[in-house]
Amino acid sequence: MGCYSMAMKSIVILDFGGQYAHLIASRVRRLGVYSEIREAETPASELENSAGIIFSGGPQSVNEEGAPQGDPKIFELGIPVLGICYGLHWMTATLGGEVTSSGVKEYGKVRVRGSGSGSGLFKNCPDEFTAWMSHGDEAAKLPEGFERIATSDSSENSGFADEEKKLFAIQFHPEVTHTECGETILKNFVGMCSADPWSVEGYADSIQEEIKSQVGDKKVFMLVSGGVDSTVAFTLLDKVLGADRVQGLLVDTGLMRKDEVQNIQSAFKDLGLPNLRIEDASEEFFKNLKDIYEPEEKRKIIGQTFLDVQKRVSEEMDLTVESGWMLGQGTIYPDTIETGSTKHADKIKTHHNRVEAVQKMIDQGLVIEPLKDLYKDEVRKLGEELGLPHDLVWRHPFPGPGLGVRILCSEQEEAIEGQGSEKLIVNSEKLLPIKSVGVQGDGRTYRRALAVFSDNPCKISEELWKKSAEIPNKNQEINRVLKCTSHSDPVEFVFTPGFITRERADLLREADQIVYEEMHSDDLYEKIWQFPVVLLPFGEKSGQQSVVLRPIESTDAMTANSAHLPEEVLKKMTDRILSLEGIDMVFYDLTSKPPGTIEWE
Ligand code: XMP
Repeated sequence: MGCYSMAMKSIVILDFGGQYAHLIASRVRRLGVYSEIREAETPASELENSAGIIFSGGPQSVNEEGAPQGDPKIFELGIPVLGICYGLHWMTATLGGEVTSSGVKEYGKVRVRGSGSGSGLFKNCPDEFTAWMSHGDEAAKLPEGFERIATSDSSENSGFADEEKKLFAIQFHPEVTHTECGETILKNFVGMCSADPWSVEGYADSIQEEIKSQVGDKKVFMLVSGGVDSTVAFTLLDKVLGADRVQGLLVDTGLMRKDEVQNIQSAFKDLGLPNLRIEDASEEFFKNLKDIYEPEEKRKIIGQTFLDVQKRVSEEMDLTVESGWMLGQGTIYPDTIETGSTKHADKIKTHHNRVEAVQKMIDQGLVIEPLKDLYKDEVRKLGEELGLPHDLVWRHPFPGPGLGVRILCSEQEEAIEGQGSEKLIVNSEKLLPIKSVGVQGDGRTYRRALAVFSDNPCKISEELWKKSAEIPNKNQEINRVLKCTSHSDPVEFVFTPGFITRERADLLREADQIVYEEMHSDDLYEKIWQFPVVLLPFGEKSGQQSVVLRPIESTDAMTANSAHLPEEVLKKMTDRILSLEGIDMVFYDLTSKPPGTIEWE
């Protein structure tokens, strides 16, 4: 537990697995109370200063061997408790009730009747509301002292409470937006806890002392990528420690967006922060990426070149540990707490802020992460409060390797394999001569995209949206479906081998800038979650290339839908991109994730 949270009366979420702990915690914070996630097994003695405790859901059955168990002494603390889903089952089993398992009992939206019970938990809720459920087990017998407060058609005990002791259990998930009055229910619970008020506005003030004491008489060196987190962290450290004790480094990889480096530079200049060194290492990046075609190889080289440049500059500027410098990082809360959903995923993909060398420095107290207790939306609010420009604070997520993963490279044209794909091709459809990454079943795929042509190229029919979801399911060679927005009729694709060069990066930068401008002029920027623009090494004519538009709707990047762009917007983007010298085809990616990933490699 950080010093910060120990000082406040806050709400603790005990994580019983599943994927909802972060969602519950961020909802509670939006209600004005600080919350943090702890392991299910946390001893009651460590929770006695909490204002309230919420048990999250979890995928297991409480009757299964090895199912997660909390400390039963929690119920003797006299602190309000809310058990959700698995949390309800664990409460029931622990307090002497009975839980039965019945396969999938309720899944999805269910009507719940609650407020007739007069429970404080359902204050200001309608008598009956839609709630989201996902459970097999149910409480067959309530623990002593508890009374039923909610029912549904298929579950008698959708909620029960010991109002006097402020112990509540609900089968449905109030933290998901599908539950109609979920926010009101959480608000009612939070209202019953004697928690200290919390807001992002007060956060910067209250952690000043923590930053100062952690840094002591050292100085902080920080890599600034231009992303929201590192930019806000750098600004905060600057404000607290003074610019003479903080040094930022922005490595220009040559794979950033148009004018991005200048925009970041001028934002800091406007804030009166002169301590960001810009290192133009683009030549070095392009040199190392010469003749590289493999996506993972590209990522590795970009990562390694980054480290080399960072090491060189920090030695050149004497920003070493020996000279009294420590490392600043823009790590945010979800990156530091492994919950049920990330615990195992992390074994596959270690977060880059927690690689071994950095972990060692953290253990030695040589890393400061001033945003490590905050969620993304809170970091954005803080950024605005620190005076950073709106556009910088609200920018879309951008991958670490930058445009490097959006410039597709291939040495040779992909040959049509097997019979399946040929059979599928009708006059208005064509397979692209390159592959892209997708995700199907449990793993990554590396497959072809199918382009569909029709009159009115920028008009996407409902039928095509439907078909785009079906095609990858039916054909094992295909993981994406695109609509060609520049041509009505299929053409022969002319392939030109290509790796990452400055020329290709410049061309993609121009196309990306057009998309950025059109999104802004149509007020779409904040409605779209992320909008990769991808460059492909083929066109209608020799030496020409193609651009793919990949607008995305998502909340967490784990799953995503293709954002539906209005026909006029699509047409404006297409026409302007076609006017760039070197591009003669444009496509619109209609694929969800899965089966496509957000990026093309
Ligand atoms: P995918 O393509 O896997 O992307 O659906 C999910 C999210 O992760 C971002 N992404 C990356 N971010 N380094 C990063 O820092 C990478 O190599 C990388 N690859 C994908 C992607 O932009 C999306 O937000």
